[in-house]
Formats: sequence, structure tokens, C-alpha cells
Amino acid sequence: RLPGSWVLCLVFVAYTYLLSTNRSSIFSGHHGHLSVTAVFLDEYRDRLFLGGKDVLYSLTLGPVSSESKEIFWPPLPGNREDCIQTGKDPQVTECANFVRLLQPYNRTHLLACGTGAFQPMCAFIYVGHRGEHVFTMDPLNVENGRGRVPHDPSFPFASTFSGGELYTGLTADFLGRDSVIFRSMGGRSTMRTETDQKLLHDPKFIAAHLIPDNDDRDNDKVYFFFTEKATEAGETEGAIHTRVGRVCANDIGGQRVLVNKWSTFIKARLVCSVPGPHGIDTHFNQLEDVFLMRTKDERNPDVYAIFSTISNVFQGFAVCVYRMTDIREVFNGPFAHKEGPDYQWGAYEGRVPYPRPGVCPSKIINQPGREFGSTKDFPDSVLQFARSHPLMWRPVYPALRRPVLVKANIPYKLKQIVVDRVEAEDGQYDVMFIGTDIGTVLKVIALNNGNSLETEEVTLEELQVFKVPTPITSLDISVKRQALYASSPLGVAQVKLHRCETYGKACAECCLARDPYCAWDGSSCTRFIPNSKRRYRRQDIRHGNPALQCVDQNLSVVFGTENNSTFLECVPRSPQATVTWLVQRSDGGVKLDDRVMSTDQGLLFRNLFHQDEGVYICRSREHSFTQTLARITLEVLQGETVDELMSRGHTGNSDSIKDRSTGTFRAWMPCSAYSRGGSSSQIGQSRIWFKDIMQLIGPSNLLHVEEYCERMWCNDKLRRKHKSMIEKYRQAQESARKARSKSSGERNRTPRDLRAWEE
Ligand SMILES: *[C@@H]1O[C@H](CO)[C@@H](O)[C@H](O)[C@H]1NC(C)=O
Ligand SMILES: *[C@@H]1O[C@H](CO)[C@@H](O)[C@H](O)[C@H]1NC(C)=O
Ligand SMILES: *[C@@H]1O[C@H](CO)[C@@H](O)[C@H](O)[C@H]1NC(C)=O
Ligand SMILES: *[C@@H]1O[C@H](CO)[C@@H](O)[C@H](O)[C@H]1NC(C)=O
Ligand SMILES: *[C@@H]1O[C@H](CO)[C@@H](O)[C@H](O)[C@H]1NC(C)=O
Repeated sequence: RLPGSWVLCLVFVAYTYLLSTNRSSIFSGHHGHLSVTAVFLDEYRDRLFLGGKDVLYSLTLGPVSSESKEIFWPPLPGNREDCIQTGKDPQVTECANFVRLLQPYNRTHLLACGTGAFQPMCAFIYVGHRGEHVFTMDPLNVENGRGRVPHDPSFPFASTFSGGELYTGLTADFLGRDSVIFRSMGGRSTMRTETDQKLLHDPKFIAAHLIPDNDDRDNDKVYFFFTEKATEAGETEGAIHTRVGRVCANDIGGQRVLVNKWSTFIKARLVCSVPGPHGIDTHFNQLEDVFLMRTKDERNPDVYAIFSTISNVFQGFAVCVYRMTDIREVFNGPFAHKEGPDYQWGAYEGRVPYPRPGVCPSKIINQPGREFGSTKDFPDSVLQFARSHPLMWRPVYPALRRPVLVKANIPYKLKQIVVDRVEAEDGQYDVMFIGTDIGTVLKVIALNNGNSLETEEVTLEELQVFKVPTPITSLDISVKRQALYASSPLGVAQVKLHRCETYGKACAECCLARDPYCAWDGSSCTRFIPNSKRRYRRQDIRHGNPALQCVDQNLSVVFGTENNSTFLECVPRSPQATVTWLVQRSDGGVKLDDRVMSTDQGLLFRNLFHQDEGVYICRSREHSFTQTLARITLEVLQGETVDELMSRGHTGNSDSIKDRSTGTFRAWMPCSAYSRGGSSSQIGQSRIWFKDIMQLIGPSNLLHVEEYCERMWCNDKLRRKHKSMIEKYRQAQESARKARSKSSGERNRTPRDLRAWEE
């Protein structure tokens, strides 16, 4: 455990609780069974467009009531019958029009494409201007969708629409063998990849995005994220690697060779791994999803990616973040090369032709008397090199060279990711929303601990978005609506990104939650709004330390166990400050000795006596300025009390997610203790038992756990006990106050002098 991060988080928010608090609502179509296969969230029009089986929907996202419109869009006449005849699918479920693509086309229309019962088709949908809710399609004005979506609804597929042209990565034939990157629509002739396993080897496309290089649009590039069979992995049969590949948006192919074929396509490996035992890294090779975190600098979005690795012995997931500068650097580095069948792969060390393959025709590569107006002007040597050396030698490593999140041997899979960049009091946080295959969404932040390279992942919430386990197939965030849209075979759920009230009614709870969306405003836990004039803002996401944030909230009670060690934390804000501990106890004074030691982080009791109970006040002094940092009531428990609590808690919480549908399950646990980046741990947080929690946090945070026991499990005995504790604590406070007014003349004691106050 890291000092200062003893904070605990988690939690499981049940489906019924999400609904009853109006945090979530579900749309499952007009017929009650919408399996969502395509989503387009239109923030400008404030609408959500959905595609399913033979159907399209438009939903308004107004704050009050939402309205939905439907378009029935079956395959073209005869196609369904043809599909059944080919015997493609005995159950006939696939012989329908599964909408796979929904992209904004122009100011009034969307482009929609569907599988059309294995005869892909596209249509333009009139959605009107902002403010009006129209949704119509001319059923006669349908185009052939070949190359724009796959034939089979289950085949992987990625697309992006830019400059009136559609870029797709898919299999473009009935049997799903012709893997290509396509460009279609717009005025130019259709472009595709050559059929060559060097270029694409059984790829599974996950995402496609246009990302500019600089201000010159001629350097715009379209990036594809996919997995494929890794030829360079040599002996390892069937090895899969994740790739980032790219083409220039202004690529129009070669003049004599590569006619209407990509002449600028290059690709590199994306590595996401953790150090394993015996110095062998564990690689997460299978790409599951990609999210582009766009920033003001459109050239440098952060690329978030979920990876998996699944074997008989180990199932793990990781999130890695890539910087565009690192991706570009690899594309500017050496090409991978293999001299012949009996040679090893290595970096190409010969002369690379000019213009360097992968570079777009633009001003920067023009030389005096030698201009490259388009890729048709590239010399054949360049095109031939590009064709024979599509792969870069160096892989792309993630930022900080390791994942920001690792989950191993969990009873579910991570499938989808979106990220929201949130402004909090102490800086910016990327809040990850991760969709699983069991209908839940994890809300997670990854923290860097000071200078250390370690990251600490904090699961803020685990939202049970769908009532029954179902895979999340897409996630979108509306910043405007502060909502998350999660799709699945059961429909789409709209979930508010935050519900600060959930974290409780006390400052410490709000701080401990470490949710960047939330802060204590003096009376409740509310949405934190940067630059707002509201005072009493208290938020400490990095450490979640209520001792620093909530000193005047009277919430620090620490429990220790008799004959055991305990620790009262108090860290001055400045290292120059000297700390003084004042104590009020029944027997008068205490001496600093081998048993009770003042440390930089607080007061350490190596062996706690019953007489140590009392109110401890930590004051810091710097120059002539003195302030109270913490006021802590120390309670000393007998051993049995703890055992008793543990055994009681044990029975309360051993049920599964499914059974726990009555509300939130929350518990304090030190996130760092079980989820530090890289370590494989037995997470399954919602299954952690009270006893485990107790062992993790030690007795000093018992009160927080008790508060939760009281609130969540409504244990009468605990409640009574808690009440009497609060009463005792009030009395202690009162005596402390009296004592303080009496001894106000004794403020400036020598540092580290520990004394008792007498009534
Ligand atoms: C949820 O919304 C309904 C209808 O708008 C309202 O009656 C109810 O009070 C809301 N519940 C909560 C917990 O806000
Ligand atoms: C948008 O595209 C559709 C389909 O090509 C066309 O009918 C419509 O006129 C276009 N609208 C605008 C505003 O360009
Ligand atoms: C905290 O304690 C002081 C006295 O020590 C009291 O005046 C104040 O109301 C308390 N604040 C809260 C929020 O309980
Ligand atoms: C602590 O130690 C004292 C003296 O050895 C003993 O009498 C007492 O029972 C112990 N308490 C607990 C809770 O173990
Ligand atoms: C003393 O504390 C440690 C760590 O918190 C714990 O493992 C141990 O069981 C405690 N012993 C007693 C007697 O409570």
C-alpha cells in the first residue's frame, strides 16, 4: 500500500438502482427486442441514431422527454429468398438486413449501409436540420453496398467517412476471404489493397480514423487498427499481432503498377505487454477496441486500446495508451526486411527510394525540378518497395511502456472502451468507461503516483447497465448530455456519467470516492464544475485523503486493536513545516518512546494500549503560521470486537451480482492493494468479502466500513453501536473544544512535544 492512498473505492451499482434513481434508461425498440448493430451519436443535432436488424431508429436526446422514430428497412425484394436458398443459414436469422454503418453524409442526410441478406446495400436517410425531428428514407434510392459493409453480420468491420469518401476495412466478398482496405464514394475512382498476405493476413478490423499530420491537408492520413496473422513471428504458428496501418488520404494509386491500389500503405505492430516471470513479457496481442481521445490539437489524439490474451492457463485484459508522436516515429523508422526464406527478419539497411514509401505527395517532398503532384508521379521503385516492405521493423510501445490497466483472470471480458477527459480541482483525469461481455460498464481512472512509474487503477463504479448478462457492443459519450450510451443485443442504455449523491452525505465519503466528476461543496457531494464560484470545494483524487481535505468536518475516527500497532496519519502540506501532536486522554500525558513514535507521515503506535484512547490533534507550524491539520479520535478495540465484526460481515455479502439487485453494494478497499498496474490479481471486485476488505485495510478504517455496513446492510446492532460511538465522539469533541479555549495561551509549544491537556 502506498502511504496516503489508503482509500477505498468501488462499487457495484445494480441495475434496479440505476433505473430507480433515474440514472439510466433503456431503449429496446418499438417491438421490444432491438439488437443494436450500428450507432451514431449526433451531438450537434442532439440525436442518437441506431441500426438493428431490418430497422433504423432516431431518438431525440432532449432533457425532458425523448421521442423515437422508426424506419423499417428489410433486404431488397427477392434477396432474402436468395439468401435462404444458398443455405447460408438454416435458422434464417442472418438472411436479414443488419445495419452495420451509420455515418453523417451531409448537412441533411446520413449514410446507412446494411448486409441486405448477404447483398450489401446503402441508402441516404433524411434527418433534417438541427431542431427538427424528421427521419425518412426513399426505399427506391438504394445503392449497392459492396465494399462498404461485409456480407455477413458477424464479420469484423471498421469504417470512417471523410471528405465525402468512405474508408472501410473489411472482407468484401460473400465467403469473407477478400480482406481489403477500401475507399469508395466521392468523385475519385475506388481504391483498394492488393490481394497479398504481406499486406493483410486474415485481418480483423477494429477501428479506422482520419488523423491529420500537420496543417497541410495533403498530409492527412487514415489509420486502421486491426489484428492479423503475424508472418514475422516465424515459427509461432497462428501468432496474432495487433497493427496500426495507414494510407494517405490523397493516395490515388500508381500509374503503371498499383493502379487503383494503395501506394502509401504501411503498418506497424502495436505492443501492449507487462513484464512476466523469468524476464519473459506477457503480451496482450488481441485487439478488442480502440478509442481516440481527441483534443484541441487534432493531430495528436491519444489512442486508447483494449487488448486481450486468452490461453488455457491465463485470461487477461489490458488497456494501453499510444501517443501519435510514437506511432509517427515508428513509421519514420526502419522497414522490416527478410532477405529470403532462410533468413531472419531484421531492419532494412539498404537504400530506401525517394520519396520514402508511406509519405504523402505534398509540398514537403517536392524538390527543385522534381514535383510530386500525386502518387501517380511516384517512381516505380517507390511503389515496388512499398509493396514488398509494408511492415515497419520497430513496434509502437504504449506511453510509459506499459498498460494503464490490467485485469487478469476475471470472470468476464472487456469489450469496449470510451474515455472522458474530466477537469477536476487538481488537474485533468481521463475517466475510462469499459464495457464488458456481461452487461456491465466499469468506470475507472488510472493514477500516476508522483514520480514513480507505477500506475494505480481505481475502479470508481461498476454499473450493471443491463439486467441480464449481455455483451456491450458499443459505447459513446455525449459530453453535452453528460451521458453514456451503451449498446447491446438488448437495446441501448443511456446512463448518466456521474451521480455524486451516491457517494454519501459526508465530506470524507465524497473525497474517498475519488471521482473526478464529484466534489464536496460544503454541504453535499455534487458535480464539480471547474472555474465555478462555489466555495468549500474539496476534492482529492490523487490521494483521496479526507484527513487533509475534510479536517473541519469532524470525521476522523481511527480504530486500533489492543496489543497491536496503529497509525494516525498527518502529513504537513509543506516539508518545511514542523508537526506537533496534542492529545487529550484520561490518564494525562504520553511520552514519545519506542512504543509511540512521531514519523513524517504521522504518529505510530507500535503497541496499542487501552489507555491510548483519546483525541489527537495534529498541528503544523511553518514560520509563525500554525494550523490544525487533523483532529483524530483514537478508539482502542479489544481483539474480539474485530473478529466479531468480521464474522458478521462475512455472511452479508457472499452473493453474486445477479442476486444483488436491490441497490448499490459499496465497500471501502484500498484500490492500490489489489489493482496496481501489472500485477495479476483476483479482482472480481463485486465478490470481495467483508473479511477480505478488513484484511486489506486493517483496523484503522473500521469506522468507514461500519458506516457502510449500517447504511447498506441495515444491521441494527451495528447501528446502535455506531450511535454510541458518535455520542462518545461528540463528547470528546466537546471536551476538546473546552480544553482548547482554556489552553489557548499554550499554542506555541516546541515541535514534537506530546502532551496531555487536563480538563
Ligand atoms: C425519476 O423520474 C420520475 C419521472 O420524471 C420522477 O417522478 C421521480 O421522482 C424520479 N426519481 C428520482 C429518484 O429522481
Ligand atoms: C445530401 O445528400 C443527399 C443524397 O445524395 C442529397 O439528396 C441532398 O440534396 C444532399 N443535401 C445537401 C444539403 O447537400
Ligand atoms: C465540527 O466540530 C465543531 C466543534 O469542534 C463544531 O462546531 C462543528 O459544528 C462540527 N462540524 C460538523 C460538520 O459536524
Ligand atoms: C493485551 O495484552 C495484555 C497483557 O499481555 C492482556 O492482558 C490482554 O488480554 C491483551 N488483549 C488482547 C485483546 O489480546
Ligand atoms: C494486528 O494487526 C495485523 C495487521 O493489521 C493483523 O494481521 C493481526 O491479526 C492483528 N492482531 C490482532 C491480535 O488483532
